[in-house]
Amino acid sequence: MANTTHYKELGLVNTKDMFKQAMEGRYAIPAYNFNNMEQLQGFIIGCVESRSPVILQVSGSARKYADPIFLPFMAMGAVRMVKALGAAIPVALHLDHGDTFELAKSCIDSGFSSVMLDGSHHPFEENAELTRQVVDYAHERDVTVEGELGVLAGIEDEVSHEVSHYTKPEEVEAFVEKTGVDSLAISIGTSHGAYKFKVKPGEEVPPLRFDILEEVARRVPDFPIVLHGASAVIPEYVKMINEFGGKMDDAVGIPEEQLRKAASSAVCKINIDSDGRLAMTAMIRKVFAEKPSEFDPRKYLGPARDELIKMVKHKNENVLGSAGKA
Ligand code: G3H
Ligand code: 13P
Ligand code: ZN
Repeated sequence: MANTTHYKELGLVNTKDMFKQAMEGRYAIPAYNFNNMEQLQGFIIGCVESRSPVILQVSGSARKYADPIFLPFMAMGAVRMVKALGAAIPVALHLDHGDTFELAKSCIDSGFSSVMLDGSHHPFEENAELTRQVVDYAHERDVTVEGELGVLAGIEDEVSHEVSHYTKPEEVEAFVEKTGVDSLAISIGTSHGAYKFKVKPGEEVPPLRFDILEEVARRVPDFPIVLHGASAVIPEYVKMINEFGGKMDDAVGIPEEQLRKAASSAVCKINIDSDGRLAMTAMIRKVFAEKPSEFDPRKYLGPARDELIKMVKHKNENVLGSAGKA
């Protein structure tokens, strides 16, 4: 096949062993979204320093932004960096919220080790059929596939959903069987972005539907479940952003203790995009406010990268439980 790169040539791994070990050890693998060098280095260094396996993930639009040709080689650079740091953490490159067979295929052919086919907005049969098509192509190449059942509120890569539809546990067995997916994203009350719930001051956010998660786990025992929209929307960063000229007053996320509980259950992968964005933005705003004469990007992107490293170590150690597992 002309002009294709297999992920093994880049030093990447698929998610199979990561999930097996996460399931046995009752922790979750972090899946951090990236689109630029500082994010990628921040995630990799944070994971090396906390000895955590890592899934580096990109949405279709992030891939376009970073450039589809360039991107897999960024991931290869990350793998080389891991080695150079004397570490041996497994690194997967994953397509987040792929919506067509063509996109998934193009990612697989360019060096991704894992892809998501998000057909959750389609009726069950259509979703299953599309997902199966991707699984067939992916498995021939030893690439793992994540599917999704149930719809999260918020923005899923340019597709905006006003309301969420919780996953129906009674559909899960048939979906897993029909599609052959390696993992499944479900909807239990998380949502994408930095404004997950509308709560009045002093009000608690609605708890995640652990009853649905438990019923799913009962129906497909030892099957890796994925949680999207799982940023905590770290209040310290929201505060810092607002303090230094930003305006994110109503930003609110999933409380960390709920994420910890999810990570110690059937949830094997936790997706984090918004918290990474907040960490960087908070630090960049601080530098801009405190040093208005700075204009060298390294002077603000460098501290932003350092802040990401701190955030990643905190997540891996205190929320996902993946620290020390690689
Ligand atoms: O789940 C969606 C991710 O946060 C990706 O967001 O499409 O802005 O890259 P994006
Ligand atoms: P957050 O917006 O909560 O970080 O969710 C990210 C995500 O689910 C990426 O697929
Ligand atoms: Zn998502």
